[in-house]
Amino acid sequence: MAKRNTGKMILDKDFIVGKIDDRIFGSFLEHMGRAIYEGIYEPGHKEADNAGFRKDVSKLIKELQVPIVRYPGGNFVSGYNWEDGVGPKENRPTKKELAWESIETNEVGTNEFITWAKELDMDTMMTVNLGTRGIDDARNFIEYCNSPSGTYYADMRVEHGQANPHDIKLWCIGNEMDGFWQIGHKPPDEYGKLARETAKVMKIVDPTIEIVVSGSSLREMPSFPEWDATVLDITYEQADYISLHTYFTNFDDNLKNYLALSMGMESYIKSVVALADYIKEKHNSLKTMYLSFDEYNVWYHSRPDMVTPMGGWEVAPHLIEDVFNHEDAVLMGLAMITLLRNADRVKVACLAQLVNVIAPIMTRSDGPAWKQTIFYPYLHASLYGRGTALRASIQSPTYKTQSFPVIEVPILDALGTMNDDANELTIFAVNRDPDSPLDFTCDLRGFSDYKVVDHIVLANDDPKATNTEDNPDNVVPANNGDASISGRIVKAVLPHLSWNVIRLKGV
Ligand code: AHR
Repeated sequence: MAKRNTGKMILDKDFIVGKIDDRIFGSFLEHMGRAIYEGIYEPGHKEADNAGFRKDVSKLIKELQVPIVRYPGGNFVSGYNWEDGVGPKENRPTKKELAWESIETNEVGTNEFITWAKELDMDTMMTVNLGTRGIDDARNFIEYCNSPSGTYYADMRVEHGQANPHDIKLWCIGNEMDGFWQIGHKPPDEYGKLARETAKVMKIVDPTIEIVVSGSSLREMPSFPEWDATVLDITYEQADYISLHTYFTNFDDNLKNYLALSMGMESYIKSVVALADYIKEKHNSLKTMYLSFDEYNVWYHSRPDMVTPMGGWEVAPHLIEDVFNHEDAVLMGLAMITLLRNADRVKVACLAQLVNVIAPIMTRSDGPAWKQTIFYPYLHASLYGRGTALRASIQSPTYKTQSFPVIEVPILDALGTMNDDANELTIFAVNRDPDSPLDFTCDLRGFSDYKVVDHIVLANDDPKATNTEDNPDNVVPANNGDASISGRIVKAVLPHLSWNVIRLKGV
């Protein structure tokens, strides 16, 4: 008989991680590659609306219920002059975009983007340029975006057809400023002082905003965690969040190793929480610093030689258009579980990115739009993961990998969320085993009279299976799991290498 694993979970209504901030289901759109042009915006397309935005793409984004979208970069922002993207389109300059060696036409800018995002019920998380610019530009920009008419930049916005302030609440002060590749890269104390003064001035213009300061670009940076500690030490009183970024890779095609990477994400979060709390004590501050995980995804298929391609000075070049497979989707499920498990400190998270550039949604110019494999775990978490995260106790067989030789990687990873308003409980669960199913039980303590509504499963016999324009529904979830409940015990078989969503409702 084929080997089967057994995994147990206990959820208790009174043991909670905390309230989940809806912004944990955020995403990201950068002026990079075909994310904006040929992605969300393609005026000549048969699906284009009056403003040139593709309705078919908007429909897919709407399905994801993205609450907030980070914009306009990314590395792009560190060379961006926001003034180039406002006012009459015919007056906007076409410029060399240096971060990705592309041509930026500025057809889409602040007003078009925010208007489009609002139509999709998305807030914009705005990033200011701290690469080539600084305090003066940032205070002008926030006045342009958020101030009522009566002053120079606010009146400029009104003149540009936007009578009401955009009221952007969340602002990133620069992007990945620790990275040598970043335009205007700085040492931590220099960035910290500039970020503190920029945040201070922006909060004078609009005291209702929140500020994200740039943490390390990735945990593997040699300057981590010193960069983060220095930046927080300098900016602690002005900052509300520190950013984290992570991109998962599988260059050596080692599935067990690859699926363990969410554990690295988890310990990265714990490390940043620890250093933030250290700085809190150092400052004798009452304020808790929260985390903004504002870039995470799989990113390696498009750079097999580990070199990120540039745009060849084209408009909308095909850049980092990773085609994701089933195992990437399972890892994305693990990433969603990891973010939710840390919902007490991670208040914002952005799947990087949303369309065409390492994205859950792909488009062809003049052609269709379709869903990549990673669309589904992100969709399920966004739709069914709202409410309160529960602290799960898990028993599972484990394995070891080269990347984490001292860590036991559990074959089962799972998390529960409860939505009191809807009287719903959701269990998200991953079976990491590439070959064997897992007999799953969950003891629901403190929940009585719940019934199983759905057991959605994303499974595939081919871990390398992908969705493409010609075969867009090759990897899709099915509501065909066997979860059942008897008393307070939920039982289900989790197929090998699968992402599972077990939805329960109080009767
Ligand atoms: O998301 C692609 C790029 O990755 C972003 O521009 C940058 O911030 C990160 O390095």
